Amino acid sequence: MKTTAAAFAAFAAFAAALLALATPAPAAAVEFRHPLDDKPLDVPLPLDEARTEAVETFHKTGENPYIGNAQATEEGATLYAENCAACHMPEGSGGMGPSFLDEQWNYPRNKTAVGQFEVLWAGATGAMQSFKDRLSQDDMLKVIAQIADLRRQAGVGEEMAKQPEGE
Ligand code: HEC
Repeated sequence: MKTTAAAFAAFAAFAAALLALATPAPAAAVEFRHPLDDKPLDVPLPLDEARTEAVETFHKTGENPYIGNAQATEEGATLYAENCAACHMPEGSGGMGPSFLDEQWNYPRNKTAVGQFEVLWAGATGAMQSFKDRLSQDDMLKVIAQIADLRRQAGVGEEMAKQPEGE
């Protein structure tokens, strides 16, 4: 009887270990939330070439590695001119869409790259539509780097890279 119990315990431990091995480590640590209702937002890691190192880092840590990266920011500037400038103005000062050059955010999480990404992924209200089908996640990070750069150029806070904290 004792032996059976011990054998069973050993087997259970072994099975648990196997299971732990078979289950891939969670790839995503950031909990994205919908800007409008704060509900969990599903942002799957892309399976194609858009799954860049930057996208992986962003999903894990909420940090946008492209912020401060000259080449990525330059690409972000082009994407911004094509997709955002009409409403947010070329220098980000706001027009039909709000300004990026102050500390007033319609959605408080937007003082972080994660918040801005959530708006790009899910869209917000009215003219601010989702860019999910128009920009890759990698491109979204580049556009967000451009917003950070516009703020840097305008001399406003550049606290943009970190994940929302304490919420
Ligand atoms: C057709 C006009 C339009 C375009 C194009 C557009 N936006 Fe917007 N954007 C808006 C409007 C209007 C809002 C305000 C929506 C709201 O508050 O719900 C907004 C809100 C935002 C916000 C949230 C700002 C805040 O105060 O919290 C971010 C971030 C943003 N846009 C980024 C972008 C980026 C990046 C692009 C380009 C990829 C883009 N937008 C393209 C109109 C636009």
